[in-house]
Amino acid sequence: MDHFHYKNGELYCEDVKVADLAAKYSTPLYIYSLKTLVRHLHVTSQAFGDMPHIICYAAKANPNLALLKVAALCGAGCDVVSEGELSAALQAGIPHNKIVFSGVGKTADEIERAIRAKILFLSAESLAELEMIAKIGGRLKSKVPISIRVNPAIDPGTHPYIATGLKETKFGVNEKSAKAAYRYCQNNKWLEPIGISMHIGSQVESVRPYIDAVKKMVNLYKYLWKQSIHLKYIDIGGGWAAHFKRKNRLPHPDDYVSAVKDLFAGLPIRVIAEPGRSLVGNAGILVMRVIRTKKSDRKEFCIVDAGMNDFIRPALYGARHRIESVREITGRTIVYDVVGPVCENGDFFAKKIRLPKMNEGDLLCLFTAGAYGSAMSSNYNSRPRCAEVAVAGDKVILIKERETFKDLTSGQFVSGVDDKLIRSLL
Ligand code: LLP
Repeated sequence: MDHFHYKNGELYCEDVKVADLAAKYSTPLYIYSLKTLVRHLHVTSQAFGDMPHIICYAAKANPNLALLKVAALCGAGCDVVSEGELSAALQAGIPHNKIVFSGVGKTADEIERAIRAKILFLSAESLAELEMIAKIGGRLKSKVPISIRVNPAIDPGTHPYIATGLKETKFGVNEKSAKAAYRYCQNNKWLEPIGISMHIGSQVESVRPYIDAVKKMVNLYKYLWKQSIHLKYIDIGGGWAAHFKRKNRLPHPDDYVSAVKDLFAGLPIRVIAEPGRSLVGNAGILVMRVIRTKKSDRKEFCIVDAGMNDFIRPALYGARHRIESVREITGRTIVYDVVGPVCENGDFFAKKIRLPKMNEGDLLCLFTAGAYGSAMSSNYNSRPRCAEVAVAGDKVILIKERETFKDLTSGQFVSGVDDKLIRSLL
């Protein structure tokens, strides 16, 4: 469900014409529908009904401050994986006690910052990490709330790069090591074990893997209870699917929750979910303008002004995003490869898709771009990152300025490089 629709042959974001935004803010341009984001946050929270829960929006999907603020205003917390995300979440008004910190490679500085910020818990992913946390907690004279991220060794049936709960991935610890990790916490005065976490993967299009993984978590929770380790939180991670096609039959938040709800019955816990893509994915689109078309012996290319630096998912994961013309164009259609200007064969948005005949200046829109779009963008090929706007009804808010060419070189220094230095190298 999203608030992008066609009216009289024109694509709208809520009450605003996408073509008008492209004219005003130029392209490529990310456009977010706040009504869609708010709805997704609401529906996700509602799915839990009266079960105590926290929705910790996964900041990595889109850490724009304005969107984090929307999440905060809707009562959400945040799942963060770096000091940068932690700072952004706090700056946007996410309450410190609704922030959880995941990730296999937290540095000592990041751990210290998280402890000082008094977040809900650090989700530890190894015994060595726990040792580091305990040491820092001791130095700061602060007892650190801990969750252990368990790797449930379950295939979520998604792209191999984003299947994080498989046995062979770097994430979490197995059940045996988890038990040892909790024992370590129990015996360390600077660690307070309060939760158990998992994250099996992203774009998980069935509820089955969640049932299997949560069963394992609950069994471990019960085992720990008997060992006098009384946890307060079970964190089921994120990974809920976003729709990539108009008529996808994918689980609704209600389905993900009702699949596992009974497993939690009677446990004195608060459930945490860390969705990113299902919240913000379909709240965003990427609008791009056609530079020109080009015919080769075998193909017809539609070359647009966005590149893989702006949106890398097709190049990196072979992801298939819906692409449509912003203005409905009637008449002849052509099979195109939609490609960007970046010097790589991987710089494509779609292959062999049928579109109306495109001309210079026409606008195309790539859907489900709100998650892992802007967040994964780069300056590759010295391309400034694009502007981003948010729409709420008929209101438009610029939430990120387009970078300038000056931004691209700011922070770089040439003064140490001179003729004398170069001669000395010969
Ligand atoms: N929690 C943890 C610990 C995670 O590692 C992730 C995502 C999430 C929550 C949120 O997952 P989501 O609900 O968004 O699926 N760049 C990839 C996705 C990487 C996801 C990594 N972890 C993509 O574009 O598909």
